[in-house]
Amino acid sequence: MKVLVTGGAGFIGSHVVEELVNHQYEVVLIDNLVTGFLGNVLTNVKTYQLDINNPEIEFVFDRERPDYIIHLAAQVSVTASMKDPLLDLQTNIIGTVKLITLAKKYNVKNFVFASSAAVYGEPTYLPIDENHSLHALSFYSLSKCSAEKYIGLYGLNSCILRFSNVYGPRQNADGEAGVISIFINKLVQGGEVEVFGGCQTRDFVYVKDVARACRLAIEGQHNGVYNISSGIETSIKELLTYISDAIGDATIPVYKPIRVGEIERSVLDNSKVSQAFDWRAHYSLSEGLRETIHYYSTVSRPKLPMN
Ligand SMILES: NC(=O)c1ccc[n+]([C@@H]2O[C@H](COP(=O)([O-])OP(=O)(O)OC[C@H]3O[C@@H](n4cnc5c(N)ncnc54)[C@H](O)[C@@H]3O)[C@@H](O)[C@H]2O)c1
Repeated sequence: MKVLVTGGAGFIGSHVVEELVNHQYEVVLIDNLVTGFLGNVLTNVKTYQLDINNPEIEFVFDRERPDYIIHLAAQVSVTASMKDPLLDLQTNIIGTVKLITLAKKYNVKNFVFASSAAVYGEPTYLPIDENHSLHALSFYSLSKCSAEKYIGLYGLNSCILRFSNVYGPRQNADGEAGVISIFINKLVQGGEVEVFGGCQTRDFVYVKDVARACRLAIEGQHNGVYNISSGIETSIKELLTYISDAIGDATIPVYKPIRVGEIERSVLDNSKVSQAFDWRAHYSLSEGLRETIHYYSTVSRPKLPMN
């Protein structure tokens, strides 16, 4: 079976590719390397360095005839989305619609879409299940909500996975999303750690568990919407304590006020996916952190030109 992974040179995508290759799938990937790195990609995986909006994408479908698509390519920065909503519109909505159109034309068996807990906005109850109302607080979140709706209306077999906060090796520590990679990088390099607030909670899920969920989604040809999360609420202060203890660092962080608009608490109910896919997070936070710390302590990130 052949799987086309978009965004396969990125953080989550590169782990999805590895998971699929390890389970004997034939994998091809598309990535424009805007935030991804060729150094993240296994050498034997066929890679098309293309934007998902490029008309040549159809050539990839025609030539490769994928059985499944796992669509992870996206503009992922909330701040960038607020500065330039067109970025998200172009990649996350229009790019996705182009892919689902081709998926239908080329009889793809299942289309898996990487959505986000961001679609729920400020929760009205916890843990957040898939029936919670959607409330976009950023253009990034709006683009994920819109893409979900397009996929739903398109009438193709599809599986929407709403990831909570994903962490692990290869996450871009220069960005804003991966608080874990930011903390680890700062501590490993002996830098000052800034904590904005600290009492806010998040649901951290290890990237290899997320990659396994993506594989199970195509294997079971599942349809519908599923939260992919640990189901465990952890405060940023607790998280920093776990990381400092694991590294053996006693640096005192600099506390700053919580950023305006930041959600105070978030944890996702994962019982739907547990029942449907027989999936649960195999990695505890301490196991995932151990692997992630090991990565950042030993590996220097590949720095390749973008675009
Ligand atoms: N990391 C998280 O915590 C998290 C949480 C929820 C949802 N997600 C979703 O998971 C997916 C993967 O995110 P990630 O954290 O691995 O980010 P990432 O930036 O590492 O990966 C995105 C990949 O897509 C590629 N890309 C971007 N625009 C493209 C385009 N127009 N054409 C082709 N390739 C393009 C990038 O080069 C990159 O390799 C995204 O859809 C993101 O919205 C991530």
